Amino acid sequence: SWTAEAFVEEQVRLIRERVGNKRALCALSGGVDSSVAAVIAHRAIGDNLTCIFVDHGLLRKGEKEQVERTFREKFHMNLKVVDASERFLKRLEGVTDPETKRKIIGEEFIRVFEDEAKKLGRIDFLVQGTLYPDVIESGTKTAAVIKSHHNVGGLPEDLKFELIEPLRDLFKDEVREVGLKLGLPEEIVFRHPFPGPGLAVRILGEVTREKLNILREADAIVTEEIKKAGIYGELWQAFAVLTNVKSVGVMGDARTYAYTVAVRAVKSDDGMTADWARLPYDLLDIISTRIVNEVAGVNRVVYDITSKPPATIEWE
Ligand code: XMP
Repeated sequence: SWTAEAFVEEQVRLIRERVGNKRALCALSGGVDSSVAAVIAHRAIGDNLTCIFVDHGLLRKGEKEQVERTFREKFHMNLKVVDASERFLKRLEGVTDPETKRKIIGEEFIRVFEDEAKKLGRIDFLVQGTLYPDVIESGTKTAAVIKSHHNVGGLPEDLKFELIEPLRDLFKDEVREVGLKLGLPEEIVFRHPFPGPGLAVRILGEVTREKLNILREADAIVTEEIKKAGIYGELWQAFAVLTNVKSVGVMGDARTYAYTVAVRAVKSDDGMTADWARLPYDLLDIISTRIVNEVAGVNRVVYDITSKPPATIEWE
């Protein structure tokens, strides 16, 4: 029967055999799939693996630091963190259409990755955290379109890497088991999905530094309180959205005119359909009170009570 231990051993052996003394690259996102794939590859070839983590400026609070802590400090991996936020934010200036935002971020991601890859000299292999459902999904045309739309990490055909996909026979729960076995922190192993375009699709309208800072703080409060309540694991996702709506409020004697934050929390099996989560009122109260008190620029919090369909999980 299948065990995580035997699986890791076998994959390490296979990767070693294939790569030999050559080098491999990995686009690390900090999600469970790319993290597990990277750690397996690192076990196999050590410093001949270079991981690239692109900070597009659209990350959540503490995300980059967690990746550095885990992969550089704990696993001693060869990790290159690229601060490309300037590049991304420049290109996103004035852009409000959701699909255009996605397209720009996807293109820019590939450019940044290519630029970095070129600096590293000759590299023959690319490690990817492709799972079995991804393999199946790409089998039909519609699914392939959906996948390319959802995966900004996809690389152009002309980048001549041989792919290493150690997880392509696994389902998500098996990947998590392997991740735990490898010693990855639970924070990464059980992390909710996070879209490639990051906070850009959770900021309605134009993406600016100011809005990113507001959303980052609000989102950190949502995550913290959901975890504190002990229900993080029951939810598919829980996050904050910065609506492009300002409304009137009152604070002390003064009238305010500030942003509305929407809280989104859903239950789902695969993200294709989802139910809005019936969060306890007391929890919603804590989240709302904290956001309005602690995040400057926000004076109203609403809760999204729409399921998918007809709404999507993300707001853009
Ligand atoms: P929607 O909003 O379409 O999202 O109901 C379904 C699931 O997919 C995630 N998502 C993305 N993931 N790149 C990704 O890697 C994307 O562009 C993207 N858009 C949505 C979303 O977070 C949810 O889990």
